[in-house]
Amino acid sequence: MRHTLLLMMLAVATLQGHSQEKVIYDFEGYEIGDRLPMNDLYSDKTESVAEVTADPTNPQNKVLHVTNKSWNTLIELAIGHITQGNITESYRMLAFDLYRPASDANYKQFVARLGQDTIYADAGFYDQGQAETWVAKSYIMERTDEASDKIYMGFNSVDAEYYVDNIRLIAADYGYDFTDEQQTLRYHAAKAGKNIGVAVPVSRININDESLLPTQTVFRNFNMIVAENEMKPDALQPNRGEFNFYHGDCIVDFAARHDMEVRGHTLVWHKQVPAWISSDGIKNDHGYSRDELLQIMKDHITAVVSHYKGKVSEWDVVNECLDDDQTTIRTNPLSYDLRPSVWQNVIGEDYIDSAFVYAHRADPDAQLYINDYGVEFQGKAKTQAYYNLVRRLVNDGIPVGGVGFQCHLTVGDTDSAKFDNNVKRYAPLGVECAVTELDVSMSDAYAQGAEQQQAEEYGKIASVMMNYDHCRNILVWGVTDDMSWRQGNPLIFRQTLEPKPAFFTLRDILQSAAQIADGITAPDTGATASASVDVYDLGGRPVALGLDRKDIGRLPKGIYIIDGKCTVVR
Ligand code: XIL
Repeated sequence: MRHTLLLMMLAVATLQGHSQEKVIYDFEGYEIGDRLPMNDLYSDKTESVAEVTADPTNPQNKVLHVTNKSWNTLIELAIGHITQGNITESYRMLAFDLYRPASDANYKQFVARLGQDTIYADAGFYDQGQAETWVAKSYIMERTDEASDKIYMGFNSVDAEYYVDNIRLIAADYGYDFTDEQQTLRYHAAKAGKNIGVAVPVSRININDESLLPTQTVFRNFNMIVAENEMKPDALQPNRGEFNFYHGDCIVDFAARHDMEVRGHTLVWHKQVPAWISSDGIKNDHGYSRDELLQIMKDHITAVVSHYKGKVSEWDVVNECLDDDQTTIRTNPLSYDLRPSVWQNVIGEDYIDSAFVYAHRADPDAQLYINDYGVEFQGKAKTQAYYNLVRRLVNDGIPVGGVGFQCHLTVGDTDSAKFDNNVKRYAPLGVECAVTELDVSMSDAYAQGAEQQQAEEYGKIASVMMNYDHCRNILVWGVTDDMSWRQGNPLIFRQTLEPKPAFFTLRDILQSAAQIADGITAPDTGATASASVDVYDLGGRPVALGLDRKDIGRLPKGIYIIDGKCTVVR
């Protein structure tokens, strides 16, 4: 189907003496009616059939037609001299073109094995995309020690029917070896004068064991850390006057060992409130008076901030205090509405003012933040309400030093200009801005190109933060997708700890910011680099072959594989 392109690409690759892509089966050497073996994982015999036929869209082209008759039945592909070593070290991606007839059900699980080892499996049964058209598919393979010369691939389904063509292995060297500090996020962040931070769940990542890969992923990549739950009021003061600092201390000690800053999260919130204060964060079930509750708040803040004085550089003092409904703005553009909470209901609005004053007294050097969600993009009522509240606090001399934007986003939410305009107007108030809880869900995490769009979304947020001196910190809310509190694989590492495109986009943006900070404005393309390059998308599909290197910057915005490396064009 895309024969001309593929041949061109192979020709270019051969000329240059290296191949980024190896077509292992294009079926052109077969006769119509030839069959490939099908392998049933649990039975020697299968009635499933894989037969070479004419392409349903182009009779000149030969393709493989698969009809599955049992579960766990995959196409067997001999890969000959391509060894397991190649798959583990060189070819990281398995790609092919897929055509599904209209009769084929959408939801299928794609699986690939090298010998007995699974090298890729969809986590569930996913919508495999449009039928009756060729769709390019690509999957990052997991490393394996299996010594086999056979790859098995296909859909795990009893009733699947599909066509495949141009099965290929792609060398996508993402350039991520975290023992090389230049390949980590924090190396570039530090040079750019920024903090790149992460929320860590101590219950799931044992940060006391430095030999573990998740632990290493954290300290090698991030120069800031925040406890995902361990420093919230219910964790720190489960019973009145009884503090449990153990997990928080683990974080602070870990940060000290690895020269990381610590963000404290959070002192006053309507959620994760200990039951002895309120059963749901709203009701005053214990009948506290205003004075009693102020005292409780003061005691908590004083004990916690004093305990971590000099160790936690900034605190989210008040979290999510704004109501989601800010229609008040329509009639009074300078106003804001606070959400109902036990604090607001019993103490009144000045609980916010008092909380900042108590925290400031306990540690005058800590940067004190207000933090909220849905306040990122200019034009939204809640965004304006947030600004109004911060301006009111600053005008009243309350020691607010920072404004946190949680940035719990979904792909498609981000408008760079609206974020930029919003962030920019806080500088004259003398407060910092931080992205405190970044994660970007994908509505269809397995759709073609979804991770690339997600990466772009991360990139938009990060780029704005690079532009301003009053923006120092960007924190992602969790390490791997499977540990996230949200659906839609919103983070920058897979469950396998493999970095996703969003990781590379962040790294690239931090690196550019570092170069600008260093006074280097032009990217160093390397003295020995060839004059022309082949550009592929992340699925290994050619975008521009033999492109003049100086024209890389003219490509449409996106992430490409160039010289075998992930490259962001902005
Ligand atoms: C979330 C944690 O990630 C979850 O593990 C927990 O169950 C609930 O809280 N805004 C915040 C964070 O300020 O504290 C929240 O963290 C996510 C939304």
